[in-house]
Amino acid sequence: ARVRAGIRLYSSQKELIKTNRQLSQTLQDLQRTQSQLIQSEKMSSLGKMVAGVAHEINNPVTFIQGNLVHANSYIEDLMALAKLSLNSRDPEIQEAAEDMDLDFLIKDLPPLFNSMQKGAQRISDIVASLRNFARLDEANKKAVNIHEGLESTLSILQSGLSGIKVIKNYSDLPKVECYAGELNQVFINILSNAIDALKYIENSCIDLSTKLIDGKQVKIRISDNGPGIDAKTLPRIFEPFFTTKPVGAGKGLGLSTSYSIVVEKHGGELNCFSTPGKGTAFEILIPIYQKVK
Ligand SMILES: Nc1ncnc2c1ncn2[C@@H]1O[C@H](COP(=O)(O)OP(=O)(O)OP(=O)(O)O)[C@@H](O)[C@H]1O
Ligand SMILES: [Mg+2]
Repeated sequence: ARVRAGIRLYSSQKELIKTNRQLSQTLQDLQRTQSQLIQSEKMSSLGKMVAGVAHEINNPVTFIQGNLVHANSYIEDLMALAKLSLNSRDPEIQEAAEDMDLDFLIKDLPPLFNSMQKGAQRISDIVASLRNFARLDEANKKAVNIHEGLESTLSILQSGLSGIKVIKNYSDLPKVECYAGELNQVFINILSNAIDALKYIENSCIDLSTKLIDGKQVKIRISDNGPGIDAKTLPRIFEPFFTTKPVGAGKGLGLSTSYSIVVEKHGGELNCFSTPGKGTAFEILIPIYQKVK
């Protein structure tokens, strides 16, 4: 009887181990789904907001820019007249010119106007980047220029990138069929991590390079010279909710979401190479054509 009890115990133990394994698999699946839900919800509301703001700013900036052209030619005329009046002998004009410091005004107006034009141009560039980033109009896959996505992502992250040298090694690439808005999200996630990693680094730099592989896929490599990732941490970075950042600073969702976008959605690859003390590189491989699903 004892032997039989022993056998029963053994098999129920085996059963328990199996159930345990299934449970932890289920937990992993659940975490993955949850993280995707959170991220896709966050993205779609962020995307909508970005697109909305971009649209609202686009209208006024368009009429500022349109009017600047006319303002420029009017100002040129008025400046010519103002210069003439500097030589006028009419005491009334002389007095008025002195009161308003016409000399200075004539010198100051052109550079002032120039910087207003530059400012307006900068706003419309930012709006263009935001629209490109959101790409809400393109929920479906579409052939796009990968470099445009990288550039618009860089301009969105501009304030975080100040003080970091960005080196670009772009190759000639064909257009890539992809879900552009989501791929831009991957660029944002990886670049934001690099920016975080470079916070206390001197002579910090980020290298962006692109390459065509076998005429079939593109490789986008994003590397930094930050502190790197130690061997114990490296295998965990793609896990949902894994973070080494302080509470509130990181959710641990950036890389797990990027992984599912690159690997599951695009049939590509996402790899990380890191040397502690030297830096970290992420390589994104995306097929140029998507298989019909
Ligand atoms: N370039 C990098 N250099 C050093 N460590 C990195 C780098 N990129 C990622 N990591 C490590 O991988 C972890 C997971 O990154 P992930 O982007 O998934 O989450 P997070 O940045 O911590 O939070 P979230 O992106 O949700 O705000 C980070 O906490 C960090 O430890
Ligand atoms: Mg992150």
